[in-house]
Amino acid sequence: MSYEFAWLDYRKGVASRAADLLKKIALTGFDDAAATDKDILFSAELELKRASRDICGQEAVFVRDEAVSDGINIVFDKSLGLPEGAYGIEIDGTRITVKASSACGILYGVFRALALIRTGRISEKQITEVPTSPIRMLDHWDNPDGSIERGYSGKSFFFRNDHLYVDDRTREYARLVASVGINAVAINNVNVNDIATGLVSGYDRKELAMIAKIFGDYGIKLFISLNFASPMSLGATDTADPLDEGVAQWWKKTTDDLYKDIPGLGGFLVKADSEGRPGPFSYGRTHADGANMLARALAPHNGLLIWRCFVYNCQQDWRDHTMDRARACYDNFIGLDGQFDDNVILQIKNGPMDFQVREPVSPLFGGLKKTNMMVEFQIAQEYTGQQRDICYLIPMFKQVLDFKTYNGEGEGILCDLVTGKGLSRACGMVAVSNTGDDPNWTGHDLAAANLYGFGRLAFDPTLSSEEIADEWSRLTFGYDDTVAEGVSKMLMMSWPAYEKYTSPLGIGWMISPGHHYGPDIEGYEFSPWGTYHRSDRNGLGVERGKTGTCMIDQYNEPIRSIYEGLDTCPDELVLFFHRLPYDHVLKSGKTVIEHIYDSHFEGVLDVEEMIGIWESLKDRIDELRYKRVADRLQGQLRNAKEWRDRINTYYYRHSGVPDKQGRMIY
Ligand code: GCU
Repeated sequence: MSYEFAWLDYRKGVASRAADLLKKIALTGFDDAAATDKDILFSAELELKRASRDICGQEAVFVRDEAVSDGINIVFDKSLGLPEGAYGIEIDGTRITVKASSACGILYGVFRALALIRTGRISEKQITEVPTSPIRMLDHWDNPDGSIERGYSGKSFFFRNDHLYVDDRTREYARLVASVGINAVAINNVNVNDIATGLVSGYDRKELAMIAKIFGDYGIKLFISLNFASPMSLGATDTADPLDEGVAQWWKKTTDDLYKDIPGLGGFLVKADSEGRPGPFSYGRTHADGANMLARALAPHNGLLIWRCFVYNCQQDWRDHTMDRARACYDNFIGLDGQFDDNVILQIKNGPMDFQVREPVSPLFGGLKKTNMMVEFQIAQEYTGQQRDICYLIPMFKQVLDFKTYNGEGEGILCDLVTGKGLSRACGMVAVSNTGDDPNWTGHDLAAANLYGFGRLAFDPTLSSEEIADEWSRLTFGYDDTVAEGVSKMLMMSWPAYEKYTSPLGIGWMISPGHHYGPDIEGYEFSPWGTYHRSDRNGLGVERGKTGTCMIDQYNEPIRSIYEGLDTCPDELVLFFHRLPYDHVLKSGKTVIEHIYDSHFEGVLDVEEMIGIWESLKDRIDELRYKRVADRLQGQLRNAKEWRDRINTYYYRHSGVPDKQGRMIY
């Protein structure tokens, strides 16, 4: 499948007064660099060549180890002492200087300088950027047959017909994600099937090494998702017990062999004892036993073991009101704090359930004190419109990162905990990727703002959602204030709009079971998945406070008391934590039922407004992309209306309370 260049299409988006800078480029310190650095520096050099050719229509004049006074100077100098990945940019009108002490710093600095030139932001004098998260990762849920679990933009570009596949798109992908600072990528689904199990033991090893090399050229570490029962599945042992000597030996030998071919491998990612996956529980062992056994195989190679905390019982009895899936992640891991080896990182989903449009922050972040943690987001819009509806998730991620956990170390801001300012040593941010082989990479053109934004945010969480939206829009659609304003407005409205027309007040779910697009209010209500709203004629919600499942007690004070109190619990989460009658008055002054009706009518109006904005940009956006987005917006409108009418009608029928404003309810 052909591909476009997303925000890296240098034929688009140039503030003309800056373009001239690209005609003369000086590279200093490149030729004396170590072999491992040279490959990354070469990628930076290629990028400059490509930019000068596409922006100025001619190759730049390159000079080496001498400064230019009118053009771009790139200075690779270890003695500057800038941290890994960091860079400085100085701009003085006729000259831009990019300096770094690491090859990745040069690469990121070059991408940044090009973005500044293209967006015309060259009046800033000095910028120094140090990446905030040590690990900035994308997890692909790609399967060997080319399908993508929760993929909404075509097929895999890593796998095809049960084989790994390497072509120029692999490099183009590495370039795209490196341009926003991504430095780790897991290429296969955490639900590892039989063929992918072989990834650790020899399957398509040549291609795997090629991918690792291409990634390495862009400063990206390759990770592989593991099947915890690999030695059994591959017939080498008759158990996967992590304390069995034979099992540990198999992992050690297999890992040693893997590193012989792929010395730069980042490590492994594991989903264990979750949704049917094998894990240490089968052998009466803990998750620390399981993770440490694998971590010890990786340790001699400086590899990392990323262990997911998405562990819960998916065989729940809906009749049982004492069990609460929202408790599971915390309950399963809190007792293991301090028991994990140094090269283990726990990967914790942002919320206690599963990537819903609104969830509280997982209490595990504030509970663990002696364990490395990463926050796991999902930019694949599984529950948030599947890249058919616009849902710009960066504002949600920012709220999560700003959350105060009060973990005993002051406010314990989540962002600090996962970026190394807290107790974690190996840590960072990860997102389930939203890419596929669609020409525009993300299905919906506007979904690329989530890919771009996640990388930018992991690098610099102080950026605002608006800044990121504006920057992405200008780089993607060209240097046009009207387009940037319109597109940014659409993006900024989109998460609130999606929340308004889907499930209300933090309760989540109500989504079509299995494929998770569109409404089905009772779709999960009598299922084993633990995702209930228990609506009846009196009210709705699962009580998670003192009179209920006590999940709220997993939070530290003062958060615990804030969520427990009906007068303090924020409206947007009130149905996550409490069961309420329809006439309960929210902090907004509306009753629950009024809020349900009003927000659903508003959500549809918001989509209509977004359509109006897009239509006003028609003549400013190329036809192909204009039409692609316009078509999806019509689909979004149909989806929003279906949600509105089903939810409002359902609650009208349950509550018997008419809509005060007499709007249509069926
Ligand atoms: C969700 C999703 C699954 C996925 C799982 C996970 O439940 O629906 O497809 O495997 O998350 O994060 O492991």
